[in-house]
Amino acid sequence: MSAPEQTGARMMPGKPVAEAVFADLAPRIEALVAAGHRPGLGTILVGDDSASAGYIRMKQERAGELGFTSPHIHLGQDASQADVLAAITEMNDADDVDAVLMQHPTPPQIDFDAALLALDPDKDVDGLHPVNMGRLALGMPGPVPCTPAGIEAILAHYEVPISGREVCILGRGTTLGRPLALLLSQKRPTANAAVTVVHTGVPNWADYTRRAEVVIAAAGVPGILQPEHLTAGVTVVGGGVRYEGRKLLPDVDESCEAVAGAITPRVGGVGPTTIAMLFQNAVEAAERRA
Ligand SMILES: NC(=O)c1ccc[n+]([C@@H]2O[C@H](COP(=O)([O-])OP(=O)(O)OC[C@H]3O[C@@H](n4cnc5c(N)ncnc54)[C@H](OP(=O)(O)O)[C@@H]3O)[C@@H](O)[C@H]2O)c1
Repeated sequence: MSAPEQTGARMMPGKPVAEAVFADLAPRIEALVAAGHRPGLGTILVGDDSASAGYIRMKQERAGELGFTSPHIHLGQDASQADVLAAITEMNDADDVDAVLMQHPTPPQIDFDAALLALDPDKDVDGLHPVNMGRLALGMPGPVPCTPAGIEAILAHYEVPISGREVCILGRGTTLGRPLALLLSQKRPTANAAVTVVHTGVPNWADYTRRAEVVIAAAGVPGILQPEHLTAGVTVVGGGVRYEGRKLLPDVDESCEAVAGAITPRVGGVGPTTIAMLFQNAVEAAERRA
């Protein structure tokens, strides 16, 4: 099938969106500190994965720049489930910790989902605890998973109309596609969309992406989204990525830039907004506890 035509897409980088979020957070952090409550982002790392250690270090550096404390627990590669649960309990009970980041993946002997259940849902900075997924499904306030929240912020920032429009999400995973579908179908001006979710159970998924006005790739399959899966002028957000060593392989093939009307860049799209939303969740947790 030949690709539909378009003149080239408007780029939607995540950095300006993240900067707007951090600009909003700065006075709120100042107000917390002035009231004697310095926000705290606790981090738990299990094992020796260097990429995971790098992610944690980067978030701790950012936490320091923003005026957070960032107590850290690092458990060894051979840590037991009991060790992880003890670390979570310590963070749950710590007065100076408002929000907790539990780095994923963990070593194979750790049941991450079971560990997540032990985390205080009000300190769950990733919004992945079942209580918070339930709050999201019910439209109740609570931490929203960071990448989906960042994608809604990108679409709002670049004034891509969503309300009443057809949005197709490729992927129903728990960190991205599923919570994003819940979020964008909520009754709010920056959501309110007709959301379709497609996955491996829908072999003709391209029939759905081709008629959508906004397509969000959330599969984690490099290059899965090609121009022939799109209609000309569509808005495309690339959420799914896979890493090959340090090389980032996005779901959205570069050639989609010629067909789309607006698109996130392959590097610097949803990454910056994911981090911004993590700190937004942490500030909100601190405000609730202050
Ligand atoms: N940039 C960020 O900060 C950030 C944050 C979170 C996640 N992500 C990325 O987002 C992606 C999704 O994350 P996740 O945790 O939600 O992943 P996941 O649980 O692995 O979900 C992937 C989804 O894609 C679908 N899929 C895979 N191959 C497909 C194919 N060939 N055709 C149609 N559907 C297909 C799967 O369908 P089935 O359900 O049928 O298996 C599944 O629903 C990953 O690449 C992850 O790295 C990025």
